[in-house]
Amino acid sequence: KRSLTIADIKAKYVSGAPLSMITAYDYLTAQWVQDSNSDMLLVGDSMAMTSLGYTSTTELPFDEFKYHVQAVTRASGSSMVVVDMPFGSFEESYAHGVANAIRLLKLSPKVISLKVECGDYRRDRYTFGFIRELCERGIPVMSHIGLTPQRANSLGGFKVQGNQSAAEILSLYGTAVQLQKLGCWSTVIECVPHKVASFITQQLSIPTIGIGAGMGTSGQVLVVSDMLGLSSTSSDTDQSLLPRFVKQYDQLGPVAKAKLQQYNKEVQLKQFPLMEHSFKLKETVWNEFLD
Ligand code: KIV
Ligand code: NA
Repeated sequence: KRSLTIADIKAKYVSGAPLSMITAYDYLTAQWVQDSNSDMLLVGDSMAMTSLGYTSTTELPFDEFKYHVQAVTRASGSSMVVVDMPFGSFEESYAHGVANAIRLLKLSPKVISLKVECGDYRRDRYTFGFIRELCERGIPVMSHIGLTPQRANSLGGFKVQGNQSAAEILSLYGTAVQLQKLGCWSTVIECVPHKVASFITQQLSIPTIGIGAGMGTSGQVLVVSDMLGLSSTSSDTDQSLLPRFVKQYDQLGPVAKAKLQQYNKEVQLKQFPLMEHSFKLKETVWNEFLD
């Protein structure tokens, strides 16, 4: 199956059909996403925490990220692959950032678009300018506004954005409009009141992909390990500790843990393996060996 293109995604958006996107971090999770027929697959830098054990996305080394992008692109299917620009890959200079953007695109022809987090367009001049550099080079950019985890420290933590003042709403709205003007083909809106995200979506002519942004965006994105409950640690499986916007469709992590425990126990009790798991030898061959 060929991958969807940006033109396909835009056509779906114009027709009014909601868009779905799911993150993936390696070949295994990417093939799940591809087999689910999600419109888009995001190689998100959230892998730093969900898959690699770091405590924040800012720790993720660029080389490790690239290695995971390559694994994801070995999965086949129609989901269009979008790749994050991780923290540290573009902040030093435009030349360095453009070079890294090109490195990501060159990893595989399946990498169709990059995603870049952006703060307020008047304050975060550098990032806004960087996105312009990419757009001017014909590199497709999905922007990401609202709660931008790479700048969580300057945002004062992981909290809802655009819910305190009219100025905050205006900042988000203005930024979304300016990013569209630069040429971004879509934008993620993260952790923003549903009214604000719906308003921005209505004002734009590019698709918005929401996470914690309510029902009024053009599409939705969730983190695969959050949706499936892949972690077996109690802080990730206790619904009351999860962010409000996460819908856990299952809790596969605790299931995996229980099954592995069962295996360990069966080995201890010599209940595994049984004859049915073992290879047989012809009696004649065994006798020949004994002779
Ligand atoms: O890295 C990520 O998973 C993301 C999504 C949450 C949008 O950026
Ligand atoms: Na991300």
